[in-house]
Formats: sequence, C-alpha cells, structure tokens
Amino acid sequence: MIASVDSAHPGTYFVRPMQELIEKLSALAQKALQDRFGAVDNLPTPRPGAATRPEFGDLQISSAMQLAKALKKPPREIAQVLMEAVAGHAAIAKSELAGPGFVNLWLSDKWLTAHATAAAASPRLGLSEKPTRGRVVIDYSSPNVAKPMHIAHIRSTIIGESLKRILRAVGYEVIADNHLGDWGTQFGKLIVAYRRWLDADAFAQNPVEELLRLYIKFQEEEKRQGGAAKEDDGDDADTEKVTPLLAEARAELVKLQQGDRENHALWQKFIDVSMTEFNRVYKRLGVSFDVIHGESFYNDRLASTIDKMVSQKIAEESRGALVVFFRKPDGTDEMPPAIVRKADGAFNYATTDVAGALYRSETWNPARILIVVDERQQLHFKQFFTIAQKLGVTASQEHIAFGLMRLPEGTISTREGKLIGLEALLDESERRAYEVAKAHSVENETNLDEASLREIARVVGMGAVKYNDLSKDRTSAVTFTWDKALSLTGNTAPYLQYAYARIQSILRKADAEGVKEHGPIAELTPVERALVTKLLWFRSAVESVAETSRPHLLAEYLFELAGAFSTFYADHPVLKAEAAVRASRLAITDLVARTLKVGLDLLGIEVLEKM
Ligand code: ARG
Repeated sequence: MIASVDSAHPGTYFVRPMQELIEKLSALAQKALQDRFGAVDNLPTPRPGAATRPEFGDLQISSAMQLAKALKKPPREIAQVLMEAVAGHAAIAKSELAGPGFVNLWLSDKWLTAHATAAAASPRLGLSEKPTRGRVVIDYSSPNVAKPMHIAHIRSTIIGESLKRILRAVGYEVIADNHLGDWGTQFGKLIVAYRRWLDADAFAQNPVEELLRLYIKFQEEEKRQGGAAKEDDGDDADTEKVTPLLAEARAELVKLQQGDRENHALWQKFIDVSMTEFNRVYKRLGVSFDVIHGESFYNDRLASTIDKMVSQKIAEESRGALVVFFRKPDGTDEMPPAIVRKADGAFNYATTDVAGALYRSETWNPARILIVVDERQQLHFKQFFTIAQKLGVTASQEHIAFGLMRLPEGTISTREGKLIGLEALLDESERRAYEVAKAHSVENETNLDEASLREIARVVGMGAVKYNDLSKDRTSAVTFTWDKALSLTGNTAPYLQYAYARIQSILRKADAEGVKEHGPIAELTPVERALVTKLLWFRSAVESVAETSRPHLLAEYLFELAGAFSTFYADHPVLKAEAAVRASRLAITDLVARTLKVGLDLLGIEVLEKM
C-alpha cells in the first residue's frame, strides 16, 4: 500500500492520502445513501471534513442534517447509514454518532504511520503536479505606468504571486499576466509636463521619481487654472472643466493614439524607465510573469470589440456615447450601465478589459481567469465579466478582491505613494530584520558573520512584508505594524522561518553525531499523533487555497503545524531517544521542516538553513 501512494500519482508533489481517503469515504457514503434511499437529485455530498475539535475525532461527516431535509428522514437515521458505510474502511479505527446527526471518525494509527512514513520518504515533496486541470490566467500586480503606484498594487502582487504558485502546484497550467496600465489619459498630461518642466538632471538620476514629480506638477498647475485635477482622471473626464492645460494634454494624447512619432517615442521612454523600476522590485520580491500584456497591447482590438458589441446588440447609443445596459427581465437595472465608448470616441478601461477577456479566451482557452484587484473595482468587474460572457467568453471569470492595507505612517501614501515608497518599505523591513537578527545572534551567542546577517535580513525582511499580507483573509483590511510583522513569536513569517531553521539545526546535529536512520514513523504518543495527522492535511490546505483563492488558509495551516511541532519538541527528546523512537522522531521532524519549506515557498517566502 505504501509503495503505491506515490506511484499512483507520478507527478504528485506531495502524497495526498488524506484527500484520497476523504474521496473514498465520500463515495462509500454516497453509495450507501443511494442503496438505502434511492437516487435523489442534487443531494449534498456526504464528504468528511477535518473534525473541529479533538474530542470529535479526526474526521467528521456533518451533512446528515442537510440530507435529512432533502430525504425527509430523521438526521440520525441518515447519519447511521453514513457511519455504517464508512466504519468498515481499513483507515477507520473507531466511529461514533453524535449530537443531532454527526458522524465522528478516528483514523487508525496504522494508517497514519504508514502514510506519514511514505510521505517522509517521498522525494516528490516540492515538485509541482503535472498540469491536468486546465489553464488559469492570473492577472495581477498591474501597476500604472507614470502614475503613483498605490498600495493596492503591492497587495495584488503578493497575493497574485502566491496564487500562481499554488495553482501550479496542484496541477493547473497557469499563465501569469501583468496587465500593466500603460495606456490612458495620464500620458497626454505627462507629455505636456515633460516638455514644459523637465529637470533633465533629475530625470537622469531617477527617471520615475522625476516623472512622478511632473505628473503631480501637472495636477497642481491644472488646479491653479481652475480645473478639477482629480487623481483618477480616466473615465469621466467629459464632466471635467477643460482648462487650457487639460486641452493641450488631450491633444497630445490624440496625437499619441494616432501614432505621432515623437509622442510615441516619449511614451515608450516612460514605459521603459518605469519597467526598469518595476522589474527591480519584482526581482527583489521574487515575482515573475509569463506575459506582460499591458493595456496598450489591446489597443488595436478595441474597435473590433466595439463592433462585436454593437452587432450583437449588447451595446447601444446613449447621448452620444456607446453604452451597455444591464437590464433585468422586468426592465429595471441590475447594475449601472457601462460606457464602452465615450462621446468623444475614446475607449474606456472596461473596453480594454472586454478586449482582454476575448483575447485571453481565444489565445489560451482558459478554464478560469482570475484578476487580483482591490475591492473598490467590484462594479467594474461585474460589468465587464457580464459583457465578456455575453460575447461568448466561457471561462469562469473571478475578481479576486481584497481590502486595503494601511502601512506605517510615512512609508507610503496614495498621494505621494510611488515605487520609491515601496522600495523604502522593503528597505526598512530589511533594516529592522537586520536588527532583530543581530540581537538574536548576540543573545544566543551564535555569532553570525556580517554576510549571514545580511542574508537573514533580506529573507526575513521580505518574508515579513509578504506574510503580513497573506496571513489575513484577503477581503479584510490589513494594518501593517513593524513589531507585529517582524515578531519571532505569533503568526508571522519570522516565527515560521525560525521554526524551520531550528529544525535544520537539529537535523545537522543528528548528522554530525552520525545518526542516519530516518523512519519508519511508529509508536505514536498522542502529541506525535496530532502532529502526524496535521502533516497529512498539508495537501488539503493547499487545495483549499486553489479552490477559494484565499492564501491565508495555507498560512493558518503552517502556523498550526509549527505550533504542533513546538508542542511536540517541548517534551519529546529526539536525539536522546532510543534508536527506533529517534528514527521515527527524526522522520517526523524532517517532514515538518520540508512541509514548512514547501508551504512557505507557495506563499512566495524563502527559508534559511541557519538563523
Ligand atoms: N491598472 C489597474 C489599476 O491600477 C489594475 C488592472 C487590473 N487588471 C485588469 N484587467 N483590469 O487600477
């Protein structure tokens, strides 16, 4: 049985006995329902999940209550059928009917130890599964060139990168697409400002900072002339008071759109210098994309996209503009209309997105398209997903929305917020991580050299920023505080990284003492049993992120795993135990470390062998 665990899934990066067991038990329970009550449509699946408390066992089936309604039978009668169906499975040591109709299940130690031993011996940990589940396009990061990069782009970058890794790991083929905001009204403004107010030295020194200064300068000048100068100067520009400066910017934009050589060259320059900057940050964060199709990429598809909307009667003229209404059968509006072509002929953000959805569908035929953008754009996505669907896009289109993040005072703000701000944040995180590492090294007399301290500072500093974001449900707002993010205790990256490094030092010591035997995992104490069970849930935790796009579920899992290890290590000697116990504990310890490492990597976070 053990040998088949891996060979059944040749590409599997982590044995998944728990998942397979759940599927098997679920099928057994389902069949028993059929046999007893006959075929009924749309029954909830009697799938066991993790028990919510240790006294409820390891697994629990809680669907009897729901099934009772559909089958019109008492829940305990149904639970009895479910229990009898699964209790005979070799993995189940004990079962019990509880409360209004819960089935509590205990796994046998034999099953646990066999699968944990196989997992510990598996060389496949860390390998991605073969892509068999279809394609996913993830659109994330997507900052705007020559406009302030706001904090939302940072969250999008961190969350998107993690989702990319996780989806890949569980067998999706993932295309990571950075939908760069490289087209739009800001370029007209920037061209004007560049020609009027450029400080060439400043541009040579730090081009993006100078572009930002020019952008802000334009807004200020416009305000002086009595214009509205809104930060978001895109879609409703029609209603703005048109100052001479704005009129000039619009004229330059039209020239750019018509292919004017000089304006195009300037535009290209702005993109190039921004991209250099973005790439520096991406490199530092360990983020990479498969394609960077910015908005400009869809430029020559906009007209034909509009034509499709018109010929399929999805869009209609309204006060000079071309508009899509979202009418319910009773004639009322389901949501506000979307303007897809403005009265002056200009296209909108939504038009580009519809063109993008069509392009992605035609080119990649993905099963899912995920777009990682903050919650403020909810309506935009609902609108354009609906339009794209009407135009034949069949992929599941998902807006992976997230709440805002508040950063420490002074690091970054939306107003002056810029890439420099993000780099300042990363620098500060490294600087503080360095202090923590140094203090720790002095305190523990590990006397790490300067190069090691710097490497720790880098890995911990980046990890802290990322984990702070990923460890909270993405839909909630996040407050960033240094002390919390860099703490060596609690649900933080440094805590998990430290847990990993501590295990490595145990393993090095074993090695130095010539202890070679790892496994089999056997004779579990209750604490070891809890730890081993936790280890076997890893693949399910990863899967739950793939299903819900919520990386915090994996973070939570890793934190609990590290906690379970800590409890184990507190009173379970490893190296000093007698040979068979030592071999079992070493295998468990090693598997914990590898699980932490793979898990953190899926969150985009590195580990260190020494800290
Ligand atoms: N550049 C946009 C912004 O900063 C985000 C783009 C997200 N992707 C998309 N396909 N709309 O708000």
